[in-house]
Amino acid sequence: MKKSVLVLGLAAVIFTSCGEKKKEEVKKEVETPVETVKEEVKEAVVDNIELGKQLFTDKTCATCHQADAKVIGPSIKDINKIYAEQNGNIVTFLKGESAAIVDTDPGQVAIMKANLDGFVKDLSGDELAALAAYMRSVK
Ligand code: HEC
Repeated sequence: MKKSVLVLGLAAVIFTSCGEKKKEEVKKEVETPVETVKEEVKEAVVDNIELGKQLFTDKTCATCHQADAKVIGPSIKDINKIYAEQNGNIVTFLKGESAAIVDTDPGQVAIMKANLDGFVKDLSGDELAALAAYMRSVK
């Protein structure tokens, strides 16, 4: 009787420690890819910002929008501030699906609207997302 209890106890210890090990191994296996994916996502985001920065110049946005100062259009920082406060979506605005919230003066809105209807409509969803990612990265 005593012996079998001992054996059972021993078996339980072995079983539990095996289980623990397995759990740790599984955890490790899961953690590694998550870290890798995180790195990849980070790189993709940085890539996206770089592409957006390039587009911001190539597509002439930079002629009307500077980081800090209002030129023809509001500064990128002013746009970011209002979009953050009002939970706005730059991509949606660029697609012409949401109204202006930064400068609602009709003359000003018309200037930006001319861009949206003129060439922004030809940009791909990825390009618009990159532009928005770049704008948001301007701190
Ligand atoms: C010819 C000048 C001009 C160019 C080029 C231009 N913008 Fe604008 N933009 C404006 C003006 C003026 C406003 C202010 C009116 C408004 O807020 O809609 C504005 C406003 C904006 C806003 C804020 C919209 C809001 O909610 O009020 C965003 C975002 C924006 N522009 C992004 C861009 C991007 C991205 C590009 C390039 C693809 C671009 N603009 C090119 C003049 C320009």
